[in-house]
Amino acid sequence: MARILIFTGKGGVGKSSISSAHAIRSAREGKKTILVSTDRAHNLADIFERKIGREVTNIEDCLDAIELDPETIMRQDYSNFMEAITKLLASPGIAVDGGEQTFMFPGLEELFSLLKIADLEESGAYDRIIVDCAPTGETLALLKFPELLGWYMEKLFLVGRMAVRVLAPIARSKYKIDLPDAKGMNDIEKLYARLINLQKLLKDPERTSVRIVAIPEKMVVEETKRSFMYLNLYGYHVDGIYINRILPEGEPDDFFAEWRQIQKVYRAELEEVFANKPIYPVPWYETDLRGESGIARISEDALRDERIFDVIAKAEGEFFEKVREGYRLTIPIPLAQKGDLHLSTNGHDVILRLGNYKRSIPLPTTLTAYEISSAKLEDGRLRIRFASASPSDAQQGKEENV
Ligand SMILES: Nc1ncnc2c1ncn2[C@@H]1O[C@H](COP(=O)(O)OP(=O)(O)OP(=O)(O)O)[C@@H](O)[C@H]1O
Ligand SMILES: [Mg+2]
Repeated sequence: MARILIFTGKGGVGKSSISSAHAIRSAREGKKTILVSTDRAHNLADIFERKIGREVTNIEDCLDAIELDPETIMRQDYSNFMEAITKLLASPGIAVDGGEQTFMFPGLEELFSLLKIADLEESGAYDRIIVDCAPTGETLALLKFPELLGWYMEKLFLVGRMAVRVLAPIARSKYKIDLPDAKGMNDIEKLYARLINLQKLLKDPERTSVRIVAIPEKMVVEETKRSFMYLNLYGYHVDGIYINRILPEGEPDDFFAEWRQIQKVYRAELEEVFANKPIYPVPWYETDLRGESGIARISEDALRDERIFDVIAKAEGEFFEKVREGYRLTIPIPLAQKGDLHLSTNGHDVILRLGNYKRSIPLPTTLTAYEISSAKLEDGRLRIRFASASPSDAQQGKEENV
């Protein structure tokens, strides 16, 4: 069972440098480690000053690296799936714009990168998988994707199965439409099962942690707080924050005096937000961090904690519980403000909207006869109560602002 550490943060804050430092440190502990870049603007090759490609490349004892290219993975491993799902979407009743285009969700390609990480995990070849991600926005899109597609496929499946069974013979002769055959459906089904496993893997706090890299200045701190909130919304376990580029002490009236003051303010803010998480300050070096020796400086200065790879302070995830008048769903979303959150149900899912992000949480079947009776945001937790719907006031599509 591999331990997975995912590094995320705003553009340019030091994700690649800090994740590489972890990879080197891990390998030197004798743990079999792979450093995986999901950022299409790969730069591991610059850091390690050698070519690292789309295939696993050995760097040193116990250390491999790979720069993932989703198009290659899609072509190599998922071409059957792509063909089947394109056919499915082109079938009557599901057709989009005449159903001519290839099935392509925004972000679908990135999903193949995540599936590749799951493959690496399943291969059993590694003790630790260190993931260097693209800047926050893309990473969040990436991390919400398995759930989104899983949910979508669930709906599609029912339609798809029926379409195949009932319509395939008619479709072929009458409409000259080629629906995916049983094998095609099987490919879709297999991918669906893998998506479920992928979600389990990435959201299992015993195995996967998200580590956030930041620098102590306004814009970065704002984005860091937002992404922390969204990561929680999607049920990912954040267990560490790195505050990079901390200025060294200096003369009280030198050029950097004011910057040091600014850093102090934002460092304090980050320390407050992440009060119950480990915080790793990383100094600002006099030069950039090219080469393994440059990266090793981070390791020496900031990663000395022996437990750096451990799961630290397990986060609580969302959970349902039985209460007197029905059930309660609790979802931790620190930093969310009342009014930011919008809640609705469609009878099968609770749909949560927060800013530009939307999440559908499937309701256990016991709860489909229940409706939301109240929702409260308190102490960084959203608590949604469900009460049994009497037939007279049963209401579909109920909506609420929290
Ligand atoms: N503490 C530091 N001191 C000096 N230079 C640093 C420090 N941290 C990072 N750098 C330099 O800053 C640049 C950006 O760092 P890095 O590539 O690790 O950031 P990133 O978050 O991965 O960026 P991107 O979002 O573009 O992927 C690099 O040139 C790196 O060497
Ligand atoms: Mg990078």
